[in-house]
Amino acid sequence: KRPVGAPDKALARKVTKVGVIGAGLMASQFALLFVRRLQVPVLITDISQERVDKGLAYIRDEIAKLESKGRIDADAANRLRALVRGTVDKGEYADCDFVIEAVFEETKVKQDVFREIEAIVSPEAILATNTSSLSVEEIGSVLSNPERLIGFHFFNPVAVMPLIEIVRTPQASDEAISTGFVVAKNLKKNAIGTADAPGFVVNRLLAKVMGEAARAVDEGTPLVEVEKAFAPLGLPMGPFELIDLVGWKVAAHVQDTMVRHFPERFYSSENLHKVAEVAEPLAKDKHGKITGWSKDALK
Ligand code: CAA
Repeated sequence: KRPVGAPDKALARKVTKVGVIGAGLMASQFALLFVRRLQVPVLITDISQERVDKGLAYIRDEIAKLESKGRIDADAANRLRALVRGTVDKGEYADCDFVIEAVFEETKVKQDVFREIEAIVSPEAILATNTSSLSVEEIGSVLSNPERLIGFHFFNPVAVMPLIEIVRTPQASDEAISTGFVVAKNLKKNAIGTADAPGFVVNRLLAKVMGEAARAVDEGTPLVEVEKAFAPLGLPMGPFELIDLVGWKVAAHVQDTMVRHFPERFYSSENLHKVAEVAEPLAKDKHGKITGWSKDALK
């Protein structure tokens, strides 16, 4: 097995324009981080102009917040706004040298995206996937040059979480991995190199925590009690608040992936899947503290 750590940073490709595929919550968050930290043009696409506009609106709002908190001045805010562009035309990725996707968490969808992108970008461009638990090698198996694909996994909320997992497939080149580590450093994140194993490292740990929390509720302990039980562990939020932050569907998907690969080691709660279909699964008091399931979730 090849080492997963950072190869010589001299091998890293220079990144002068970033392409972000998808304009959902994760993609918009890291598009903002790319433009803020790398100060290079960032291009966002999605399958409809409406989705692109929603992503751009989020980024503009966050830039305004940074300005009103005094973190950046008006000139810097304008510079950032000018560097972000959104379109539905993937042809505009042609001059991007680092293209990262956060589209629907399904291997086939991601493969189709990369097949299309590979035909547009230069042969030197580095490709990255923000998948949280799918096999990066399998996603890249449709590429003519799978060595340029890496996993580049952000955590929610992207602006605050200090970590990025850089996932090395057996085919990945030192250039691609090195570029990932240098980009992560320029984003002011800590990067860890991981093998392309199910759930990488973080989601393997999280799926255990979330799965056991869901199991405790399935066994009859009220959700609020399970939430409180996590306080002594020193975690910044309880498991259900965390699931709510990450997204119930994402959490259910991660559980499924782990159970598929390691059925004897992970637990996937049927109730959690049912609840994932509800728009607001948790009831909260006026301070945002969880008080239990919402009425819809209990139906
Ligand atoms: N977007 C942007 N910034 C955010 C944010 C968001 N969604 N949520 C909080 N922040 C910022 C706030 O603006 C604030 O920044 P400033 O100091 O600049 O004002 C800072 O974070 C602290 O926020 P708060 O004081 O409101 O809240 P807090 O101290 O209670 O921290 C938290 C909130 C950072 C979310 C903290 O509870 C936490 O770290 N929770 C754990 C999150 C976690 O484990 N994430 C990983 C999930 S796994 C995943 O994402 C990947 C996957 O594949 C499933």
